Amino acid sequence: MSAEDELQQRDAAADPTVQAHGARVLAHLREVFAAAGGRLPFARYMQEVLYAPGLGYYQAGQRRFGAAGDFVTAPESFPLFGRSLARQCAQVFACLGGGDLLELGAGSGALAQSLLAELAALDALSGRYLILEPSADLRARQQARFERHCPPALRARVHWLDGLPDGFQGVVVANEVVDAMPVHRLVKRESGFRELWVRLRGDELAWEEGPLSAPDLDRPLAPWRAALPEGYVTEVRPVAGAWLHSVAEGFAAGLILIIDYGYPAAEYYHPQRSAGTLMCYHRHRAHDDPFHLPGLQDITAHVDFTALAEAAVEAGLGVAGYTTQAAFLQGCGILELAERESAAGGSGDWGAGKGGSGGAAAGKGLPRRQVELATQLRRLLLPGEMGEAFKVLALSRNLPLPQEGLLGFSIRDERGRL
Ligand SMILES: C[S@@+](CC[C@H](N)C(=O)[O-])C[C@H]1O[C@@H](n2cnc3c(N)ncnc32)[C@H](O)[C@@H]1O
Repeated sequence: MSAEDELQQRDAAADPTVQAHGARVLAHLREVFAAAGGRLPFARYMQEVLYAPGLGYYQAGQRRFGAAGDFVTAPESFPLFGRSLARQCAQVFACLGGGDLLELGAGSGALAQSLLAELAALDALSGRYLILEPSADLRARQQARFERHCPPALRARVHWLDGLPDGFQGVVVANEVVDAMPVHRLVKRESGFRELWVRLRGDELAWEEGPLSAPDLDRPLAPWRAALPEGYVTEVRPVAGAWLHSVAEGFAAGLILIIDYGYPAAEYYHPQRSAGTLMCYHRHRAHDDPFHLPGLQDITAHVDFTALAEAAVEAGLGVAGYTTQAAFLQGCGILELAERESAAGGSGDWGAGKGGSGGAAAGKGLPRRQVELATQLRRLLLPGEMGEAFKVLALSRNLPLPQEGLLGFSIRDERGRL
């Protein structure tokens, strides 16, 4: 940790609001650990510190997204992401003859803002914009954002759901949702895989090795087990398969797009990835200690896209495409979009094209706008930034595909790697 990071951490820990919240989370954890006999599978610990009502990281009122928060997501900082994605949605709506858009886990509402703006600009708004957000706090923030900024005609299309809809037709989008779902941590020993549990002693959280908390937890590792060295640590996320089954249940027709950082199983469980992918984020510092400031930092792990694709097939969905974020966005026309934006000097969100109110006037402030667009392209597309680490998985049901195929997978489709 750099001296600057250490100072930042000390500042955070010294903040009385942070201390008071941290104490409440710890008191809650003490009760949960006591009820469970002293130790929990890591997945249960992660569930509590991220999602315990009123206490977990995604449930309590702190600032998480953007420069003043803990991390930045693509739609949050780069409107070109959502606007390109809108073009894929528009193509699906054209194939279906209409449909709704359902966003799962909408965070601050930034993606909804870009998607609605671009769909309006394309004249492709066909139905409702539905949001399923399990966090009451985030839902309130999304609603406030729409009340404040969204033109009334677009606002009228937005509805918050309490559960997954039945008979849904259209496009489902889940950006950086699966990586926020709890994982179990496993370690390879001579006798087979063991689980890393969490123990709470006094105020100290610590790892404790034990048996698997469910007998088939190590199932995704079966094809790779023999090649993995003793002491190899990794993560599995059975809850993602169950989640996908529930999404598939009420899904009648259209496309489901899952966007996240991750790999196919052969890369996820590569012998060289010997410490797993668990990461924590607090005030833009990434580290690997999930016991630091419980409830006040984000905890994530990469996504196993092979496991998701297998769960999708089991649930009766088709795997319609798999590619990198860079290839997907370029297939959707991000470069042409940026070029047009640059020439027009538009703002990007509830201001784009005929949908809205405009940003910097054409001819005025153009160089700044161009620099800003170039930054968006660099961050979204370059391999060392988000371009290769993030992948897009498309799942379909009853979708009559256009002859030219899905836009986002027209440059490169790597389904064969799953
Ligand atoms: C890292 S944030 C990403 C937010 C937003 N999609 C973005 O890209 O900026 C994770 C989001 O997933 C939501 N989430 C977690 N589990 C979920 C689930 N099972 N269903 C729907 N959303 C979920 C969280 O509440 C949060 O809004």
